[in-house]
Amino acid sequence: MKSLPKWVRIKEVGPRDGLQNEKQWVSTEDKVNWINLLSESGVREIEFSSFVHPKWVPSLKDALEVGKRINRNPDVHYSALVPNQKGLELALEAGVDGISVFMSVSETHNKLNINKTIDKTFPVLKDVIQDAKSAGKHVACYVSTVFECPYEGKITPAQVIPICDKLFEYGVDDISLGDTIGTAVPLQVKALLEEVLVRYPKDKMIMHFHDTRGMAIANILTSLEYGITRLDSSVGGLGGCPYAKGAAGNVATNDVLYLLHGMGIYTGIDEAKIQEASLYIQEKLGKSLPSKSLAYLQAMA
Ligand code: HMG
Ligand code: MG
Repeated sequence: MKSLPKWVRIKEVGPRDGLQNEKQWVSTEDKVNWINLLSESGVREIEFSSFVHPKWVPSLKDALEVGKRINRNPDVHYSALVPNQKGLELALEAGVDGISVFMSVSETHNKLNINKTIDKTFPVLKDVIQDAKSAGKHVACYVSTVFECPYEGKITPAQVIPICDKLFEYGVDDISLGDTIGTAVPLQVKALLEEVLVRYPKDKMIMHFHDTRGMAIANILTSLEYGITRLDSSVGGLGGCPYAKGAAGNVATNDVLYLLHGMGIYTGIDEAKIQEASLYIQEKLGKSLPSKSLAYLQAMA
């Protein structure tokens, strides 16, 4: 086994990627209480909501109010998903520390997700990235479907690289590589990271695994072996992409912490607090979340 990093920084995306796919409405007050619990867990970044069109993602239509009402822990970076200038305006009004823009490698998924071709998406993102940077905000970009698209099939590293090149040229601080539908296996992760990490510094690359087939933990281990130190995950494994047929939630923060802490890798996050936040949102949604660590600890309680 290659050497593993000593620490990993996790971005908690449950309040955005997790809730965006839920039919069950979670009240603004409950969202705020939940994010406040997460803010006390030791996690250093929380994606608290999404400033997309409320018709497209109704479960996050209260993003502005959530952003204004959450308690700000000075040790936490609060970011939100932004598709365009309108989203940026609202995100700035909500007082974000940073934003994440997003696009897909696959033309079909991009069109379904943001109603534009890839060519028409670039100038929109370029302006948003540059305006957000001028406003002093950190800017990340999710690049979705980096391994496979539910409509176009397999995606190669050669398709991913030119998109990342352009985004870095526009000034994004870092890029999150999205296994949007959770199909990747470790050899695909290896193939992509071998191309990506000769071009960009590893501390600018984040891995974003959905856990549709239970491969996310194996893929994370491979990523760690390549020196990746930044991961996205969601409390309890909540989530999915509304415009990617069959996509399950993100890898569960609970399970990632079990893996990392079990291998002596520091995160600064208190697993008990993540358990508490998982139970809280589970109760509000009225359903069990998929995390195995969550289920185990619940059974033992
Ligand atoms: P559109 O209909 O093409 O937008 O949607 P438009 O620019 O033509 O504007 C139409 C109307 O929408 C206008 O209002 C705009 O003001 C309004 P009107 O003049 O008709 O009254 N509008 C907005 N309102 C509120 N907030 C906004 C906004 N923008 C325009 N931001 C749009 C384009 C991008 C807005 C739409 O397609 C959209 O909201 N898409 C979001 C889809 C989404 O959230 N998908 C899930 C997130 S991505 C994901 O989960 C993957 C990820 O996790 C990584 C991975 O897993 O790989 C990130
Ligand atoms: Mg996602």
